[in-house]
Amino acid sequence: MAAPAAHPTETISWWREAVIYQVYPRSFADSGRDGEGDLRGVTDRLPYLVSLGVDALWLCPFYPSPQVDGGYDVSDYCDVDPRYGTLADLDALLAAAHAGGLRVIIDLVPNHCSDRHPWFTAAVAAGRGSPERARFHFRDGRGTDGAEPPTNWRSVFGGPAWTRVREPDGSPGQWYFHLFAPEQPDFDWGNPEVLAEFERILRFWLDRGVDGFRIDVSDALIKDTTWPDTADGSPVIPKGDDGGPHPIYRAFRRVLDAYPGERAAVIETGAPDDVVALFLRPDEMHLAFSFRFLKAGWSAPAARAAIEDTLAANARVGAPATWVTDNHDTPRSVTRYAADTALAGAYVPDAVAGAHLDLARGTRRARAMAVLLLSLPGAAFVYAGQELGLPNVDDLPDAVLQDPVFVRTGGEVRGRDGCRVPLPWSGDAPPFGFTADDAAPWLPMPPAWRDLTVAAQDCDPASMLALYRRLLALRRSEPSLRTGTVTWLDAGPDAVVIRRESEGGRALLVVVAMGEEPVPLPAGEVLLASTPGPLDGVLPPDSAAVLAVAS
Ligand code: GLC
Repeated sequence: MAAPAAHPTETISWWREAVIYQVYPRSFADSGRDGEGDLRGVTDRLPYLVSLGVDALWLCPFYPSPQVDGGYDVSDYCDVDPRYGTLADLDALLAAAHAGGLRVIIDLVPNHCSDRHPWFTAAVAAGRGSPERARFHFRDGRGTDGAEPPTNWRSVFGGPAWTRVREPDGSPGQWYFHLFAPEQPDFDWGNPEVLAEFERILRFWLDRGVDGFRIDVSDALIKDTTWPDTADGSPVIPKGDDGGPHPIYRAFRRVLDAYPGERAAVIETGAPDDVVALFLRPDEMHLAFSFRFLKAGWSAPAARAAIEDTLAANARVGAPATWVTDNHDTPRSVTRYAADTALAGAYVPDAVAGAHLDLARGTRRARAMAVLLLSLPGAAFVYAGQELGLPNVDDLPDAVLQDPVFVRTGGEVRGRDGCRVPLPWSGDAPPFGFTADDAAPWLPMPPAWRDLTVAAQDCDPASMLALYRRLLALRRSEPSLRTGTVTWLDAGPDAVVIRRESEGGRALLVVVAMGEEPVPLPAGEVLLASTPGPLDGVLPPDSAAVLAVAS
């Protein structure tokens, strides 16, 4: 194994106020000619991320995988899929990132693996009652000949959450549980072998020098294995102290804490704030996405409630908040904010389909939301392409769609491919420098993205990219944007006005105009505004500003 990459040393608890850039490796940059991004492509573009001013990256899964669910169906947790490169490429990426002062966290997928994972193929082959099957949830079916699934639970991707296997002798056999696609069998975390294996996996990557993990579907590892039927087929998943997955996260934390450099984990859970906070107790995980903030959309009261509730719940356990508006599972915010307010917050991939979309409005709002996102205390995530103001691509032809949701709902839900279209880097026509000019990107790129490439935005001070660079620089120089207190000033139902103060930082006001009317600006020095041009004492609708004010 290669020597672990050198570690950035500067701050402790870096994760408490980090801005972490999410890279979807398949869509970031292709160093080859196959139309799919790869790890070398990421390494080649690290100078771009350094100049953007983020602190870390999160790499979505790059493991060997049949790609039934964009790599969230892992067949080997300790290797790199040849389509993305090699372990040596990953080591080189880590070394280059660390040399540039960037930390790197990687995706850990502990709820389920691929049905091609050697543990699962062994389980199917080994038959009923075997120790191999005991690593998953195999059960006999109900009804005549066990032909009915063990419960009525439904999968998140549509259809039943159980699939029947053939036994080694060819007879119809047991059923196994999958919260997502049938090709993603769930591990049985009640089996200590599973924890031992994941501790080994954590150490494998920590030894190589990764700075932490984003933990997929982290709240769902434990199922109610009395398997009760439910009224609507929703799975029963304990999340609290009574039977929930907390002992697993305490074990993970012990592994992380045994390494130098504050290795940290961010968890993915859509649970209510008080349940999320349980996962953030000092002996559990470090960060948890605030999906309330993402779902708040373009609404001042919803944004305020999300911010206040998240901060209050996290404060009770001493954890920072983690703000996010975009990711690889959600229509891009430019498009969500372009729709009517009621739709803007919806977390349902198809919520915006067919809605009236005003992309210029969505872009203005996304600029303003970037100001708020990066002015709140705690960590923040930026999804690749968000800093370019990319819209969702809602007109991909059916034939190119790859999300299993599309197939499993019979085309009723189009799925998440629209936010996964490759990034435009340069040039006037697809593939915009993402891959070789004569190669086809794995999802077609809209010709209209010629105005949104990195090269097109690079030197334009009015661009979204320029706004992100200025914001990230301001956040670095103003401690009160990264940490400290949030005080709400009354500004009516359509504006967010917060006072930000921190020890050692100057007092700032963050103002976001979210209604139809301009918002009068309080006295102070405007440090940054989301709109180009002078403000004349008022903030126009769909915009935001940061002001320095008297302490
Ligand atoms: C998470 C991932 C998503 C994936 C699902 C199943 O929600 O973000 O992309 O489909 O888990 O692994």
